[in-house]
Amino acid sequence: MSRLKGKATLITGGTSGIGLATARRFLEEGARVAITGTNAGRLEEARASLGGDAVVIAADAGDVAAQDMIARQVEAKFGKLDAVFVNAGIADLRPVGDWTEDAFDRSIDIDLKGPYFLIKALVPLLSNPSSIILSGSVNAHLGMGGTHVYALAKAGMISLARTLSGELIGRGIRANVISPGPIDTPLNDKLGLDPAAAKARAKAVVGLVPAGRFGTADEIANAVVFLASDECRFMVGSEMLIDGGLSIM
Ligand SMILES: NC(=O)c1ccc[n+]([C@@H]2O[C@H](COP(=O)([O-])OP(=O)(O)OC[C@H]3O[C@@H](n4cnc5c(N)ncnc54)[C@H](OP(=O)(O)O)[C@@H]3O)[C@@H](O)[C@H]2O)c1
Repeated sequence: MSRLKGKATLITGGTSGIGLATARRFLEEGARVAITGTNAGRLEEARASLGGDAVVIAADAGDVAAQDMIARQVEAKFGKLDAVFVNAGIADLRPVGDWTEDAFDRSIDIDLKGPYFLIKALVPLLSNPSSIILSGSVNAHLGMGGTHVYALAKAGMISLARTLSGELIGRGIRANVISPGPIDTPLNDKLGLDPAAAKARAKAVVGLVPAGRFGTADEIANAVVFLASDECRFMVGSEMLIDGGLSIM
């Protein structure tokens, strides 16, 4: 249990779901961990559950200025960074006719623009070797109605993993993207559905997944440990799809 021993790591959106599970796994593997989030209660719960060594930073992923602040705090605590999991995100799903410019901008700010400027701010701190892991989604590969803007942002993450790698690999910085299928996390409770609609949606989603179930946050976290570790130093600009087979159907 020391695959990340001594590595300085940052996980955005580390207060819930996949990010929190990944923070736990990183700590178990010997990493130093900083997390971000916006909700004060969840930030404190995460601090209590991860223990005193975890660095907890309140920062909005959609605010470009806040990304510089995160980088300064990481530098002050760790002096460098060996791995970053750019995971914070929202899923605003609605029919094309229901989109407004404000809603579009908010989704893109959190799911794509903020992450880009976070990486820009972190590049000077990234070690040689180091790993950038971007959060994508199986939705970038599907034509699922209502997912337009979410899928657009996630497709951008897949593209960024390639172009960042192309530019930064000479400095030992590799970027990859992890694209989960449906995962059982609190994200599913934030879709604005009433309980009956949420249950019906969950049943419909499971019906689409060849594995016949939602994945777990730990199943994604284990893969992120691998991507952050030196075990996969030859994986550059790639995508890891963990979706129970959804994308092959
Ligand atoms: N669950 C799935 O089925 C699934 C599938 C594919 C991809 N993903 C991706 O996986 C990532 C994590 O999702 P999850 O399922 O673990 O969701 P989750 O349980 O809702 O967790 C989302 C995390 O992101 C943070 N976050 C949300 N908006 C933020 C903002 N504006 N600024 C900073 N932090 C923010 C949340 O913290 P606060 O609440 O404190 O802001 C929380 O820690 C997302 O990028 C999502 O798109 C999830």
